[in-house]
Amino acid sequence: MFINFKDAPARSGYFWLASTVTPRPVAWVSSLSASGVPNLAPFSFFQVVTGTPPTLMICPLVNGGDKSFKDTALNIAATGEFVVNLVPHAMVNAMNETSFGYGRETSEFDAAKIESEASTLVKPRRVRGVPVAFECKLAQHLPYPADNPSCVIILGEVVAAHIDESILAPLPEGAAPGTQQHVDPNKLDLVSRMGADWYGRTQAAENFELGRPAGWAR
Ligand SMILES: Cc1cc2nc3c(=O)[nH]c(=O)nc-3n(C[C@H](O)[C@H](O)[C@H](O)COP(=O)(O)O)c2cc1C
Repeated sequence: MFINFKDAPARSGYFWLASTVTPRPVAWVSSLSASGVPNLAPFSFFQVVTGTPPTLMICPLVNGGDKSFKDTALNIAATGEFVVNLVPHAMVNAMNETSFGYGRETSEFDAAKIESEASTLVKPRRVRGVPVAFECKLAQHLPYPADNPSCVIILGEVVAAHIDESILAPLPEGAAPGTQQHVDPNKLDLVSRMGADWYGRTQAAENFELGRPAGWAR
């Protein structure tokens, strides 16, 4: 099959990209409206951008219909702060509940009965029980394409990370800057987004190690 997107229906770009660029990790993003209403929503258009400074990207699409920006994009533009919580398999149903289109005055934390705890350097609270939460300050908020946006590219500088001790393992001294521990990939058990309504899961039996090519210098 060959697709020339110039001739294809508008939704087909989303359809083919979202079902093939998989697995995608899920950012479970907590934010606050300008009037202080907490918001929580999942986004799989999500990636690391750079480590210097530590920066993540999330990309909320506009709402179907009126093409308005989603609450998350509006909140981050208004307050400049958010938290990216990573989603363990044990919390996948709770995460899914928060993708429901509640009104701006409803907190998904209340609607889906999700416990939270205070963040340290930003005002939005984080999800209690996730293995990793990143406190972020807005670095860039770019509606794209600029003339008729279908999404907002949001770059967030990670100012702090909360990492559950239970997913850590010792690392040989000197292997990484400033730490003797790393995250054991087989303890993380995050969910990822596949095509349609499918999700992926990292399970030890399926994981494997592959070193860099011989002669590659770190
Ligand atoms: C696993 C998962 C991943 C999602 N990823 C995205 C995404 O990358 N971009 C997007 O616009 N919506 C995504 N959604 C839908 C939003 O979560 C949904 O529109 C939500 O209501 C937005 O909330 P907000 O308006 O409070 O920001 C996803 C939903 C699920 C369940």
